[in-house]
Amino acid sequence: MRNDIKVAIAGVGNCASALVQGVEYYRNRQGIAVEGIMHQSIGGYSCSDVEFVAAFDIDRRKVGHSLEEAIFAKPNCTRIFQSALPVSNVIVQAGPVLDGVAAHMADYPDDAAFRSADLEPTDIAAALRSSGAEVLVCYLPVGSEQAVRHYAQACLDARVALINCVPVFLASDHSWAQKFQNAGVPIIGDDIKSQVGATIVHRALARLFADRGVGLDRTYQLNTGGNTDFLNMLERNRLTSKKISKTESVQSQLDERLDVRDIHIGPSDYVPWQQDNKVCFIRMEGRGFGDAPIELEMRLSVQDSPNSAGVVIDAIRCAKLALERGEAGPLEAPSAYYMKSPPRQLRDSVALEACNAFIDGRQYDLPAETARGAMVAERPRRSK
Ligand SMILES: NC(=O)c1ccc[n+]([C@@H]2O[C@H](COP(=O)([O-])OP(=O)(O)OC[C@H]3O[C@@H](n4cnc5c(N)ncnc54)[C@H](O)[C@@H]3O)[C@@H](O)[C@H]2O)c1
Repeated sequence: MRNDIKVAIAGVGNCASALVQGVEYYRNRQGIAVEGIMHQSIGGYSCSDVEFVAAFDIDRRKVGHSLEEAIFAKPNCTRIFQSALPVSNVIVQAGPVLDGVAAHMADYPDDAAFRSADLEPTDIAAALRSSGAEVLVCYLPVGSEQAVRHYAQACLDARVALINCVPVFLASDHSWAQKFQNAGVPIIGDDIKSQVGATIVHRALARLFADRGVGLDRTYQLNTGGNTDFLNMLERNRLTSKKISKTESVQSQLDERLDVRDIHIGPSDYVPWQQDNKVCFIRMEGRGFGDAPIELEMRLSVQDSPNSAGVVIDAIRCAKLALERGEAGPLEAPSAYYMKSPPRQLRDSVALEACNAFIDGRQYDLPAETARGAMVAERPRRSK
């Protein structure tokens, strides 16, 4: 029997809750046909071969509590699909707050917003070392630039692999990528791409238009939700990196980039009663044969947090394979398949092949890089 993968979590919010529940949920379903996961086995590891060994947060309802209690504490609001959890002996430790908590959180009720514990922060690198963690999953709020970098540095110091689920650019940033390479530590990032979420659907539709010769003139993707992720993103200046990450993820799939005025993608509003239900509206306007107009309107409704956990459960196992193989720095193929802002953007069909080759330990030559920030082509506009 193989040893479990020892995992630490930074940010015990809704995504962490779905992940922790999922590991136990699939433990009870081994050997039967399983829906909801992409890979039953990665390098011999199943979804339940994950052991949580450390967790960090800043909320007073989570810090000092066991992980299995903290994931159900407010303001978490994701679906509970696995309430019975084993006793983990993992007590959530106080992380450094830094820029993790947006000021406007104070204007919202306790049940809906973060409440800082105001405790002396733990030494994250030391806590990672003493826990025996092999992989850290970073689930901090969008806009936590300093805090995410603090955890990333701790990973470098403790030589722990990082799965960066947040749009703070590390794996896709040359100097951070180099730091991970030099330290001999693998990283998968940045900004988790949900299983069937707004990003991958929008990317697939963009490719469909291009592959079928339909010119895309303009598009939007509007998203609403009622969890703390959406509440946090009401502060516009925390949103910059998320908008870049989501927009570039779609732009990268187009043969010709759209002018910035013709593409609008981002979290759009916080609707408290939606809780962890995220609703996405996509509109695409294009031109087909003989310049005939084509319009597409689509609505996607998902449970936001399990949708990302279904991807993180794969990323953790890929990080473990990299550790076993002595690979360091950004893992290009898993990052391209699992993340919105990888070091190298690929078409999702190619990313899947490349990722499967990585998992199998096969050589796979990645195609030439898509030019980031390529020139916007001058194209005739459709008259209204
Ligand atoms: N489908 C998805 O849900 C999805 C997809 C892509 C990316 N993400 C990103 O993943 C991240 C986590 O999402 P979530 O829904 O779990 O968010 P969340 O708001 O539920 O959880 C964030 C947690 O981080 C804690 N926190 C804040 N500052 C901290 C600090 N300095 N140190 C430690 N903990 C801190 C909060 O108390 C909270 O428990 C977000 O950045 C989100 O944008 C989520």
